[in-house]
Amino acid sequence: ARIAAVVVAAGSGIRAGGDKPKQFRTIGGETVLRRTLSALLDVAAIDVIQPVIRLEDTSLFKAATEALPPAKFNAPVGGGATRQESVRAGLEALASQAPDVVLIHDAARPFASRALIERAIAAAEKTGAAIPGLAVTDTIKSVDSHSLVGETLDRSSLRAIQTPQAFAFAPLLEAHRRAHREGRNDFTDDAALAEWVGMQVVVFDGEAGNIKITHPEDFMRAESMQAAQLS
Ligand code: C5P
Repeated sequence: ARIAAVVVAAGSGIRAGGDKPKQFRTIGGETVLRRTLSALLDVAAIDVIQPVIRLEDTSLFKAATEALPPAKFNAPVGGGATRQESVRAGLEALASQAPDVVLIHDAARPFASRALIERAIAAAEKTGAAIPGLAVTDTIKSVDSHSLVGETLDRSSLRAIQTPQAFAFAPLLEAHRRAHREGRNDFTDDAALAEWVGMQVVVFDGEAGNIKITHPEDFMRAESMQAAQLS
């Protein structure tokens, strides 16, 4: 089976602070994006990686990917105003290569292990749509616009969902095209799109270390995580 990976790196990353998008800031001297791409390059089963960036970040992208094996990369394509639009741009760029399975991965998750990525591929080859999730340890409540509690959700049935998410390529591309046609751009992950078109999505075990760099303090946590990896 031909396996592709879309890496979405087209966010502005403003919540994380700093002078450039978080994916181009460094952890242990290496950019977040380069770490994420290296993790995917470590998985031999992945044939091609499709980066999605803001075109204004092209020189940052070139610097971040210097000396990575070019044979595994498609040229980066420009993303959109939402993550969903950025993923769709990546999928369209892969369409002519018609992979069997596609992984969708956030550039902002540099700590996904090889085992996790391989689990994603294996699960998607079996089921067509598979996503990593963790049991939630906090109690989760819904609130209204005045912060008044609506209800307390049953924690045992909840999962916090990560990337990489893995799908049969053709139906995911079709789901994205349909959402675009119908003006739906409010899906926060690709599994939500797959669910919307009626695909069955299975959750496999995610990793606590597979954090998404979102806020400034995440960089401090990431620094100590990579230091621990080295020691
Ligand atoms: O903002 P958030 O952390 O949810 O973004 C998750 C990933 O999606 C990041 O890697 C970010 O660069 C990417 N993204 C994108 N295009 C956007 C918004 C986010 O590629 N318009």
